[in-house]
Amino acid sequence: MISEVNKVFMLSTKETSYIFRVLPSGHLENLHYGNRLKEQDFRGIHMKQNAGAGSSVLYMEEAMSLDLLPLEYSFNGKGDYRVMPLEMEMPDGSFVCDFVYAGHEIMEGTMPMNELPDAHGDGVTIVVELRDKLFPITMKLSYTVFSDCDVITRRTEIINHSKETVRLRKIMSLCLDLLSDGFDVMTLDGGWIKEAHAHRRELSQGMLINDSTTGASSNRHNPGVILMKKETTEDHGRCYGFNLMYSGNHHTAIEVSNHGIVRVIQGVSQHNFHWPLASGESFETPSAVLTTSGKGLNDLSHHFHDFVNHHVISERWQKKPRPILMNNWEATFFDFNERKIMSLAKEASKLGVELFVLDDGWFGKRNNDHAGLGDYEVNRSKLPGGISNLARKIKALGMSFGLWFEPEMINEDSELFRKHPEYAMKVPGRKPSKGRNQLVLDLCKVEVQDYIIENVEKILRDAPISYVKWDMNRHMSDMFSDAVEHQGMVFHSYIKGLYRVLRKITDDFPDVLFESCSSGGNRFDLGMLSYMPQIWASDNTDPVERLKIQEGLSYFYPSSTMGAHVSQSPHQQTLRRTPLETRFNVAAFGLLGYELDLSNLNLKEKEEIRNQIIWYKKYRSLMQFGRFYRFIKEKENRVNFQVAEEDGSIAVLGNFQILQKSSPGFDVLHFKGLNPDERYHVETVKATMDIEAFGELLKHVTPVKLKPGGLILRNARKFYRLPHNVESYDCYGDLLASGLRVNQQFMGTGYSKETRMLGDFGSQLMSAEMKGAIVNGEKQ
Ligand code: DGJ
Repeated sequence: MISEVNKVFMLSTKETSYIFRVLPSGHLENLHYGNRLKEQDFRGIHMKQNAGAGSSVLYMEEAMSLDLLPLEYSFNGKGDYRVMPLEMEMPDGSFVCDFVYAGHEIMEGTMPMNELPDAHGDGVTIVVELRDKLFPITMKLSYTVFSDCDVITRRTEIINHSKETVRLRKIMSLCLDLLSDGFDVMTLDGGWIKEAHAHRRELSQGMLINDSTTGASSNRHNPGVILMKKETTEDHGRCYGFNLMYSGNHHTAIEVSNHGIVRVIQGVSQHNFHWPLASGESFETPSAVLTTSGKGLNDLSHHFHDFVNHHVISERWQKKPRPILMNNWEATFFDFNERKIMSLAKEASKLGVELFVLDDGWFGKRNNDHAGLGDYEVNRSKLPGGISNLARKIKALGMSFGLWFEPEMINEDSELFRKHPEYAMKVPGRKPSKGRNQLVLDLCKVEVQDYIIENVEKILRDAPISYVKWDMNRHMSDMFSDAVEHQGMVFHSYIKGLYRVLRKITDDFPDVLFESCSSGGNRFDLGMLSYMPQIWASDNTDPVERLKIQEGLSYFYPSSTMGAHVSQSPHQQTLRRTPLETRFNVAAFGLLGYELDLSNLNLKEKEEIRNQIIWYKKYRSLMQFGRFYRFIKEKENRVNFQVAEEDGSIAVLGNFQILQKSSPGFDVLHFKGLNPDERYHVETVKATMDIEAFGELLKHVTPVKLKPGGLILRNARKFYRLPHNVESYDCYGDLLASGLRVNQQFMGTGYSKETRMLGDFGSQLMSAEMKGAIVNGEKQ
């Protein structure tokens, strides 16, 4: 809901209010962003300037300094010295501008953008128009309120009505000044195979910048940022979340002024940015996404998750169960042929897998990562019958078929490069730097965009393909395009070109499920999610590493967006050995897939996987779309994840142990989101462990004496796995919330099937079901 009384604007969601007003000078003052307030006389929260301004500069004749105000947007050269959301060379060559209120309009719905993705669904929008005092240049600040999920999106548009060209050097989507200090800030930082690690640090006077310069939203710093009061935890306290619907270079700066006002600006990065705006032209920023909660970080994340699931993901994929897939990448890399693929597919179908994905290496001369990118002709020596023939064979096994593409890239050793070297980005006269032996296609060029659209669409038309993995495997360099007027336009034009391609292909193939990927999670953002409902979270499939990655991402993105696969141990990224059970237990908190050579598994391991898949199919809707909860880490060697249905009828808790302690203490597991007055049946999800984990101790648990590492044991592993951690209760939700005292862990003495044999990297899943809960359409 949006209301206006005497130029005071009140934007209300279910539980929050965002209030600003027009000052007598025409500037916009932020009065409040936080818990929901009643409509009233807001003079009590006007900023007071009745004691002079110290060394600050006064705005014109008014006894007011812009530097001391919480503003909705701010402009250069009139006395505000904090970090600026706008830098523009005006028609007079100066960088001074002064935009003031000129009118506003409130409308139902969202305001779709032409070239950039935006949120959809029920919303109310207010557009406030500002006009420069000297030149006929206007600015529109748009706010859309998504009441259901306590989210407000903001964006900015500049329209040049003057006769001269103006030059944008920086234009942020959002500027928000909060009158509260004592904040911590959280960002997601990392790199390849260590994406999205959450870092929380104290915010003190000065400036903190979270940005990307790689051309993509990047695995270095995700665009999501959280500000929170020092005392805020997962379940208590005030916090503010910010994210950007954009897949290119982003920028967030947070400045704590010397008077303790916290300014947040967020938008497209000004790194190498320069945008000339000729007479009559306009520039539109991507949307920034804001939310706040007084109930801690889990609640804040639930706002973001609901926003993504209901307003970002295309309506056709909302709440739609995602298939369990098998991907051949870690099993074969480039070294495959039809026989190998079919034998993997046959095994996968026997285990219950629903979708088979053929990864990199199926086209051109792509037998390694030096050649072939840009070519779309199938490699007939690997797949003599072509893609359509393979897809049909896979369909005959009862699975659907998916295919990998990396359409934004080109190898110099490719037919495309030989024919169109000008399609690759490079600066004339300079040898371009390569990443993974490849160059970036110049997506600023319409002919390049069309080449991609035509070729990807041809393959999708010719074969029964129901899933596409859209990869992008390098950071950008040598940015130059002759398709733009100024080289400061290249990064942003690339992203606009990419969005045109994605919009066209996903509109033309609405039934194909697209999964975005960029060397794993190098482009995990709301822009990509607008076109592709899921993203491959990381090339790291080691579940211990995945805990950090999936937990970090969960602050901003729901489980329904995160591809997560069970892979072979020891893991290719860390050489760590982990139990099959844990690999599944972590992947089950995302979109489950398998990515390993199934022919290396013994019969018992295959049976274990078959059971995992049966279980996941039953709980799929909960695991993919349920409420996700994080926990405060009570013990440094333990991580818990949990999902619950919104009505509290079912929940699944994951308990993950990092390293085993000797003779460990007692574990108490707390459930969240359950109904305290309802009775639940709680039990550990059945899983078995490899008998090899017992080493010498095996002699105590089997009647037959087996030599550790010996031939008989190696054979016995194929036929026998040990049950453990068998435990169940019937109790009320109140007890489960206050803490369930679960069975003891292995203490160095004795084993029974009730003992929790976690060891290093061990884990368990526990389900809690209310009597009569509906699971997978069936009443329990
Ligand atoms: C990077 C992806 O993240 C991997 O899953 C795989 O698809 C490779 N690219 C293929 O080159």
